[in-house]
Amino acid sequence: MAHEINIPDNLRKEEKYSVLRGALASLISDETDITAILSNVSAAIQETFNFLWVGFYLVKDKELVLGPFQGPVACFRIKFGDGVCGASWKNNKSIIVPDVDKFPGHIACSSKSKSEIVIPIRKENKVFAILDIDSSNYNDFEEADEKYLKEIIKIIEKKLD
Ligand code: SME
Repeated sequence: MAHEINIPDNLRKEEKYSVLRGALASLISDETDITAILSNVSAAIQETFNFLWVGFYLVKDKELVLGPFQGPVACFRIKFGDGVCGASWKNNKSIIVPDVDKFPGHIACSSKSKSEIVIPIRKENKVFAILDIDSSNYNDFEEADEKYLKEIIKIIEKKLD
């Protein structure tokens, strides 16, 4: 099987997510290594939407530690409750940030980042990792992104069972 994700650029966002979800489900179906899975999921999302940064922070003891990602160099560690990612971990919920400068405590890994979405990934009802996506445009994420990204995360969570 070719390890390629080719999603036409002229599709609507919802259609892109839908095709991406199917392609990812198929791509990762035979893989069990979570690092390998998260690596290709971050690559596939970035390739489809050309976001500034797509990646995962993994819960390790009392911190989030940088995991597989696509994009510019990012901070290695984020403490519980810090920044957007730490707040998502602490509150165990997704956060959409339309303007990163207006989020108290936002951690600016890249000055190019203008808006952000973060979504927890759970294993046995506890936060296992955070999916973090940054855009170089303001207001780039809405409820539809959250909804479709959560569907992609469900595929990852099944791998953690
Ligand atoms: N902005 C995030 C930090 C991670 S980088 O965006 C990759 C935050 O405030 O938690």
